[in-house]
Amino acid sequence: MPAKILIMPGSVRTGSYNVSLAQAANKVLAEMGAETTMISLGDYPLPLVDEDLKKDKGVPDNAIKLARQFAAHDGLFIASPEYNSSIPPLVKNALDWVSLAPKDIKAYSGLTVALGAASNGALGGIRGLYHLRSVLMNVGAQIVTEQAGISRAATAFGEDGLPTDERQRTLLEKTCRSLLDHLVEGRGRA
Ligand code: FNR
Repeated sequence: MPAKILIMPGSVRTGSYNVSLAQAANKVLAEMGAETTMISLGDYPLPLVDEDLKKDKGVPDNAIKLARQFAAHDGLFIASPEYNSSIPPLVKNALDWVSLAPKDIKAYSGLTVALGAASNGALGGIRGLYHLRSVLMNVGAQIVTEQAGISRAATAFGEDGLPTDERQRTLLEKTCRSLLDHLVEGRGRA
């Protein structure tokens, strides 16, 4: 059975570099034999996490739907922007809401995550990934070591949708391979 991988860009900006990175990861993972689903957080609008809101109205339907998407896949690839060296609120808020979803959904337990970031800066947004890694560890996901930072993102992607720079393309391929290897080795829930 092919590994089922959910691909989640951490931006809904028009022309988002991280959507481009997510599309590149989608292509690489599909070529490696994975069954992929790419989502947009724009389809899961959520209020800011608020415990009073949770107490009064429960966890929002979109958070439950997102949690079920996580649970329906073996692996997750997140392509996240870096905001002030850290996690953008869109991503953090979505991950926090999912962590508040009923535990029997099992959104995070056994979920293997691979991380990527794209930025027009020289570092490719990788400073934010340290924080994202830490958050995901806290909720019980397993995160592969390799990560794909795509720098100079405005011009990084070629006509085939992949990074034109060989080093960046190899990094993306290694990150995707590592995600699938982790599942094949039976360390995820696949
Ligand atoms: C940024 N950006 C940014 N980039 C970066 O490489 N390091 C950083 O610390 C920051 N900080 C930051 C803070 C805030 C509040 C914003 C809005 C932006 C720039 C960011 O990388 C750029 O907007 C990307 O285009 C965002 O990713 P998408 O939307 O293109 O996927």
